[in-house]
Amino acid sequence: MELIVADDPSAVGRMAADEIAKHMSGRREFRLGVATGSSPLATYVSLAENHRTLFDTVDINAFALDEYIGLPQGSPATYRQTLLQTFARPLGLPDEALHTPDAWAPDPHAAARRYDELVRDAAVDLQLLGIGVNGHIGFNEPFSSLSSRTHVAELTEQTRRDNSRFFPSLSEVPTHCITQGVGTILNAATLLLVAHGAAKADALADAILGPVTWACPASALQLHPDVIIIADIQAAMKLINAGPAATPRQPART
Ligand code: GLP
Repeated sequence: MELIVADDPSAVGRMAADEIAKHMSGRREFRLGVATGSSPLATYVSLAENHRTLFDTVDINAFALDEYIGLPQGSPATYRQTLLQTFARPLGLPDEALHTPDAWAPDPHAAARRYDELVRDAAVDLQLLGIGVNGHIGFNEPFSSLSSRTHVAELTEQTRRDNSRFFPSLSEVPTHCITQGVGTILNAATLLLVAHGAAKADALADAILGPVTWACPASALQLHPDVIIIADIQAAMKLINAGPAATPRQPART
């Protein structure tokens, strides 16, 4: 596991975009796992600003981590629309290159299984991840299985409150979703987690320094052989304070 500490959220985005570009470079095809939430936004902006030509030359397929159940199809709050607007279109990718779980299927459980097969067969090269303040990845909330495959999940009240900023009111935040399981996520060849802000400090410390436990789904990253974490100083503060156990590649400026 490699920890890189950046000065601020836009530096997190730049360094993460450079890391993605490094993995893509020289490849004819690339399967990129993409995430939603505010954490990866600066990465998408930097990819479009600094690495757009790479996206013109490499055949990209992108796979989302999750999708809400219960929103009108095409509504801007869906993760499909969010990723089209923030990631795929700014990079000139055709909409068909973005794959998302079919949360509108008559049987969402069957749709989850189909999506799991799609992601498994694609063999994701690099999965970009954020982390929830409760340590969730994708929508794998605390006390869900660390070996799960893509499934229908229920959101915790904390996650619904956290994500309510993307909705007119809390009551409009869906209660369920389809999410890649932790086991599915761990199948990606490389995991790249981005985090910024003091609100993520506890979750990041639990994920990296704590025991591997279903109480913190992100702690499963400790089981993966190729993990890069790029965090700003605030999010990494507890890791920096932990000393030699977590030596950043780029020490924070004082
Ligand atoms: C949502 C997404 C997660 C994301 C999390 C953190 O719950 N399903 O994939 O990591 O939000 O969001 P933010 O980056 O906005 O803090």
